Amino acid sequence: MENNFLKNIKTFDKNKKENFISQIFSNVSKQYDFMNDLMSLGLHRTWKEKLIDIMDINNDSIILDLASGSGDLTKIVKKKFSCDCIVFDSNLEMINQAKTKLQDFKIKYINGNAESLPFKKNFFDHVMVSFGLRNFTDIERSLNEVHRILRKNGKFFCMEFSEINNVMLRKIFFLYSKIIPKYGKFFSDNEVAYEYLIQSIRNFPNQIQLTKKLKKAGFERIEVIDIMGGLASIHISEKK
Ligand SMILES: C[S@@+](CC[C@H](N)C(=O)[O-])C[C@H]1O[C@@H](n2cnc3c(N)ncnc32)[C@H](O)[C@@H]1O
Repeated sequence: MENNFLKNIKTFDKNKKENFISQIFSNVSKQYDFMNDLMSLGLHRTWKEKLIDIMDINNDSIILDLASGSGDLTKIVKKKFSCDCIVFDSNLEMINQAKTKLQDFKIKYINGNAESLPFKKNFFDHVMVSFGLRNFTDIERSLNEVHRILRKNGKFFCMEFSEINNVMLRKIFFLYSKIIPKYGKFFSDNEVAYEYLIQSIRNFPNQIQLTKKLKKAGFERIEVIDIMGGLASIHISEKK
């Protein structure tokens, strides 16, 4: 896939963008965990632990792991709690990776699209998503869906790449982002997937813009926690 394709991704029609993103995840699914560790120098693990730590989970919670990928978040939850977790992703290959990783736990797996969640309203105590939202073709619609399926006072926890506040860190990340696609080419023979990663980070709303989108979807009491100066951030929001 050529780089111009990536530059124009914002202008694509919905189906074309969805197919492109799904193909990316199908191609990287087998090396997904390895590449995450490599590119983040293992930091994504600490960030995910932090996300689970701030969620007030108990053994009776019902939790949706939205855009679960290979199931990292659910694994952390299930090691600590015997609550109900549903692993949900639009890509079957990624779900298969999750099934392997989570084989010791009782989990329900669903293959579907975040824009049309197959759950009744007011169902979940928590919905969590890490590094998934920026891949959704229609973020607003997905947020409306998350709001619909949460119970009253239920919370949505969203961790995503964000806007770095510190000038020095921003420069370092800018330089690092030039290397990432080369890593992708070298270690997984897939430069485009990692070009896409960088492009999707650049195109994604910053902390303030995402907060506005959450408000528009009906969420309240929105809190933002920056990680590493805003390289990533966690948005916590509540359904009232
Ligand atoms: C970067 S991975 C993140 C996986 C995992 N949450 C993590 O933090 O490692 C993004 C995931 O979002 C999924 N995805 C993309 N668009 C989606 C959609 N519209 N609905 C559900 N999942 C989607 C992809 O298939 C992929 O598994």
